[in-house]
Amino acid sequence: SQGVFTYDPGFMSTASTESSITYIDGDAGVLLHRGYPIDQLADNSDYLETCYLLLNGELPDDAAKAAFIEEVTRHTMVDAQIAQLLNGFQRNSHPMAVLISLTGALAALYHDGLDIDDAEHRKLAAIRLIAKMPTLAAMTYKNSIGQPAMSPLNTLSYSENFLHMMFGVPAEAPNVSPVLAKAMDVIFLLHADHEQNASTSTVRLAGSTGANPYACIASGIAALWGPAHGGANEAVLNMLNEIGDESRIEEFIAKAKDKDDPFRLMGFGHRVYKNFDPRSKVMRKICDEVLADLGVENDPLFKIARRLEKIALEDEYFIERKLYPNVDFYSGIILKAIGIPTSMFTVIFALGRTPGWIAHWNEMISSAYKIGRPRQLYKGAAKRDYPV
Ligand code: SDX
Repeated sequence: SQGVFTYDPGFMSTASTESSITYIDGDAGVLLHRGYPIDQLADNSDYLETCYLLLNGELPDDAAKAAFIEEVTRHTMVDAQIAQLLNGFQRNSHPMAVLISLTGALAALYHDGLDIDDAEHRKLAAIRLIAKMPTLAAMTYKNSIGQPAMSPLNTLSYSENFLHMMFGVPAEAPNVSPVLAKAMDVIFLLHADHEQNASTSTVRLAGSTGANPYACIASGIAALWGPAHGGANEAVLNMLNEIGDESRIEEFIAKAKDKDDPFRLMGFGHRVYKNFDPRSKVMRKICDEVLADLGVENDPLFKIARRLEKIALEDEYFIERKLYPNVDFYSGIILKAIGIPTSMFTVIFALGRTPGWIAHWNEMISSAYKIGRPRQLYKGAAKRDYPV
């Protein structure tokens, strides 16, 4: 049994046991996407090429890569109705609440493309979701700061476009830093997929009912929001801000170790990794590069994070429990340095994870599947008669 419920064979054979997309060896700290190690993809590939790899199982040749990029580029715009929907949200709405709604709304806008048995519908839904997630995310941010939404520019790369739509203004020509665009691209890549995590399992379970891909991805975004999962990057920044000074690190380490205190060190620990999360090593390298490029290598939060990591890794509580930094520990510091507000951090995670969710959804519905149906260990009242 897995905690509160047991998996019956029916559930295990549909929603979450067999996959050929991503392999994790938690003890060794290994992460492979279709067999390729994450650090090699981060060093040599790019986000859209990794999206293609996750969706199709093989790296594209030059022609296939160019065609995929062209297809994604052609679908970055969103229906004008989305802007109407945005008007319905208060400016201080959490961006994840808005993104869940806008992604679900795509199912309403593309109501003529929801036949999951139609390979073209499935393919177009994948392209639309990957292409439009940056536009939806940037529109959500612009709406929250009262600025006009920026239209995507087909002359920019995927990650340049995202930063342009986030920080560009109509009065100025596009001006995106290549260093920040590259860092953004690697951050998206590092988040692209991670096997059967909570949000991906949610997408697979929703998909096992035959729901359309837009609805399934919206359910994945909802599951990702929690601080134990994708919300951790936002929680790491809040924690570093609360620590505030290196002199207070020991106090927070003690809180994290205190059984009676619910506080946990955000960005540390993992259900599967009992070694370094290989993504955190790449993330730390980008952190060094971005902060140096921006001339903020002495960013106090980064210095607190580096010291916190060093102390925790030498503490027997964390060593005994094999608690290491995970993907979220450094990502927030880089996003903050790029200028992305904390409230948007989990939106960035959702954007990056979209191809993984789609690949898992596609994989599940492309083979014979049954509806997922977790069972439980019943611990309630035995059968009894109503008192008449
Ligand atoms: C993501 O599944 C995925 O793949 C997720 C993800 C992805 O890409 O999709 O990798 C993304 O969600 C990364 C995780 C982000 N979350 C956080 O950083 C939040 C902080 N971390 C924790 O809440 C925690 O580590 C979890 C939720 C990630 C895992 O929790 P578990 O499964 O309870 O961890 P565990 O069973 O290994 O815990 C063992 C012990 C426990 O103490 P004891 O009961 O043995 O005394 O370690 C303790 C836990 O209390 N512990 C921590 C801790 N994490 C675990 N103590 C202090 N600080 C922590 N961060």
